[in-house]
Amino acid sequence: MRDAAPQTIYLKDYTPFGFTVEEVHLTFDLAPSATRVTSRIKFAPNPDATDKTFFLHGEELTLRWAKIDGETVEPSITAEGLTCDVPNIPFVWESEVQIDPAGNTALEGLYRSSGMYCTQCEAEGFRKITYYPDRPDVMSTFTVRINGPEPVLLSNGNPVASGKGWAEWHDPWPKPAYLFALVAGELIAHPGKFTTMNGRKVELNLYVRPGDEHKCAFGMQALKASMVWDEKVYGREYDLDIFNIVAVDDFNMGAMENKGLNVFNSSAVLASPETSTDQNFERIEAIIAHEYFHNWTGNRITCRDWFQLCLKEGLTVYRDSQFTSDMRSAPVKRISDVIDLRGRQFTEDQGPLAHPVRPESFQEINNFYTATVYEKGAEVIGMLRTLVGADAYSKAVDLYFDRHDGQACTIEDWIQVFEDSTGRDLGQFKRWYSQAGTPHLKVAESYEGDTYTLTFTQHTPPSATTPDPKPQVIPVAMGLLAADGSEAMGTQVLEITKETQSFSFPGQPARPVPSILRGFSAPVVLDHSADHAFLLAHDTDPFNRWESARALAKGSLMATIRQGKAPDSAYLGGLTKVVADDRLDPAYRALMIGLPAQSELAASLHAEGDVPDPDAIHLAVDAMREAQAEALQDMLHPLYDAHQVTQDYAPDAAQSGKRALGNAMLALITRRDGGAVAQAQYDAATNMTQQLAALGFLIGAEQGDAALGAFEAQWKDDRLVMDKWFGLQVMKAKPDDAADTATALTRHHDFNWKNPNRFRATLGALAMHHAGFHAKDGSGYALLADWLIKLDPVNPQTTARMCSAFQTWRRYDAIRQTLIKAQLERIANTPGLSRDTAEMIGRIREA
Ligand code: BES
Ligand code: ZN
Repeated sequence: MRDAAPQTIYLKDYTPFGFTVEEVHLTFDLAPSATRVTSRIKFAPNPDATDKTFFLHGEELTLRWAKIDGETVEPSITAEGLTCDVPNIPFVWESEVQIDPAGNTALEGLYRSSGMYCTQCEAEGFRKITYYPDRPDVMSTFTVRINGPEPVLLSNGNPVASGKGWAEWHDPWPKPAYLFALVAGELIAHPGKFTTMNGRKVELNLYVRPGDEHKCAFGMQALKASMVWDEKVYGREYDLDIFNIVAVDDFNMGAMENKGLNVFNSSAVLASPETSTDQNFERIEAIIAHEYFHNWTGNRITCRDWFQLCLKEGLTVYRDSQFTSDMRSAPVKRISDVIDLRGRQFTEDQGPLAHPVRPESFQEINNFYTATVYEKGAEVIGMLRTLVGADAYSKAVDLYFDRHDGQACTIEDWIQVFEDSTGRDLGQFKRWYSQAGTPHLKVAESYEGDTYTLTFTQHTPPSATTPDPKPQVIPVAMGLLAADGSEAMGTQVLEITKETQSFSFPGQPARPVPSILRGFSAPVVLDHSADHAFLLAHDTDPFNRWESARALAKGSLMATIRQGKAPDSAYLGGLTKVVADDRLDPAYRALMIGLPAQSELAASLHAEGDVPDPDAIHLAVDAMREAQAEALQDMLHPLYDAHQVTQDYAPDAAQSGKRALGNAMLALITRRDGGAVAQAQYDAATNMTQQLAALGFLIGAEQGDAALGAFEAQWKDDRLVMDKWFGLQVMKAKPDDAADTATALTRHHDFNWKNPNRFRATLGALAMHHAGFHAKDGSGYALLADWLIKLDPVNPQTTARMCSAFQTWRRYDAIRQTLIKAQLERIANTPGLSRDTAEMIGRIREA
């Protein structure tokens, strides 16, 4: 076990390692409970380092022997690693350790999943494989020999040689240990081929367990599309002879970009029309792209230390969102990203877990793979591109690749290439990386003579890590509309740098209507009493048009919650027109019907000084759905019929948009007909999108029992589909039943709680069910806490991530706060709590 005493690590304390690593040779003798790992590592004193302490990380390792230049040494060993006297000249370190993959339930290091061996080394898992300087700024080439009876033996780089019971791999590109990977097992390859822009032939494989072969085609196609896109848009070519992806069933995250050997959660790569929804396909395409894009933004250029995580993750999320926008619909992707940002990142910024995109301290780095680092990190890249322009962005990124290839870099390096290639001073812009909190942007308008003026005032609420926020650079894309809905001024980007700043637009013959923050050009909260009904009808910017519908819906819901007001007819009227407009993309119209999440309504109520009542919020949303059904009633059936897809299933944007709108209609139809059409859709469904949507609506109408039974009988042998079955029942439960439903599911014979996908499907769904999780009797809190306490010793990383369900506890009433506090205390007082969970609970309780 790790040392439980919390130790905080600071960015300001960075020093380089005392030694460089010239090359690494590893030999694995695989055995489920007693794998032997022999290492041979060439070290040399690092001329750039002053501290020459030879410390190698190592956890849960049994050292069998160690040698320096062939002579046995006796290092001193702690739970974190070893130190040893070494010569002040280049030397060879050799060691043999024994590890227990079968006993490794944390899914970090080398572990077993469904009978195969696999690894997860980011961020600090390599130290559970052998003694090594496990830090991203130590880069080396790796040669790996694997001995084992498994038919497939994989590691990073290119295959060197193999025979019965062994294989050897060599990765010529220097890399940090976190990108190391090894996979061994009885796996089936789904092969592919790719020729790069310079004619290099690359062998592609997607490795899966026997039985999953039929779920590979889409992933392979997505990989090829990603490779083409990165060549075309970023000029980045693949750099090995082979690229392998492996699907594993037990995985803490979505996927991992190990050099030449990406490892994927099977839920993030396996897809077939019968078992995967349109949303699954889109996510899989994006994750494959994301991990592939890391080959340059992350692997060829990596991070100096883990504080720089956004250097690779923010940039790579930005790149994968560009990819999805190009492959599918850009406005639909942008709207989905903003929904996600507001739901997860704004929540972080508003609570005790607020931290900057580049944090300055942490206890457990695994806790900083957050929406702030990822999603706000990507927004910061998007703002940079908006500020300098697309061409200057491309030039700066080219310079980044030229200048830093093969290096472990910092955010300063990234900003420097933009300063050097554009001549701009980005000093103030850098505050986006160092300040936590979401800026609020207040807008005032005036119209005098023929001059229209906008005055912006920015204010960022203080937080624990940023008690005194300074003004940031905010790019505001905006346009002006004339009273007839025509464009009075096309989109311009205003650059706000001061706390208060005005911009004038002369030559306006009549008072224009402003459309502000088009495309959500900055991750801020806009405080502006805009003419949303007008913008919903006329805005030429698709994002802001959607945003207007969202603002109207939210305003109406807030009035229902606070004053019991009936749903706003201006909203419903505007919505009806947009939904009926056949010229608009069905996917976009489906998004228009969506309502803000109940947790977002709770956040807004709290921000405005009210105490949110989860039951009242739930009822208000229900009343609004009813009002939508009534307002749209004449078009529900015609639109449902018009958006049935008759061609063979394809997971593309066009078909999935149709299904999304059709199912949005079906949701409302089911409110009217009690489930007749939904049952018919369920019975006729030939793809998971249609089947699962119908099942969800049937459960919502309390008509789901037969279909749930049929679904289980049909899919009991498919784990990924059964995850949906577990999750959906919790998601669709009535608030008062949510905890009981989840409890019953935890007693189901298929509830394998050590599998992160199944655990998250069931208990994650409860945490996401706003009114259910916050049930007045505290049953939701208690159930989640029970399971987090049970999971923590087995899998700290997944436990810690799920603690974030409690981060909003200060929003709620005194009774709920007391109930949550008691659970937080119970978790905190659990003996032997992991460092991961202890840090999360500690930060949440400090609120
Ligand atoms: N490098 C991460 C995976 C990772 C995260 C490993 C945390 C270890 C700890 C990978 O590139 C990643 O970001 N994966 C995301 C999906 C992606 C599309 C944002 C994930 O796994 O959720
Ligand atoms: Zn990533």
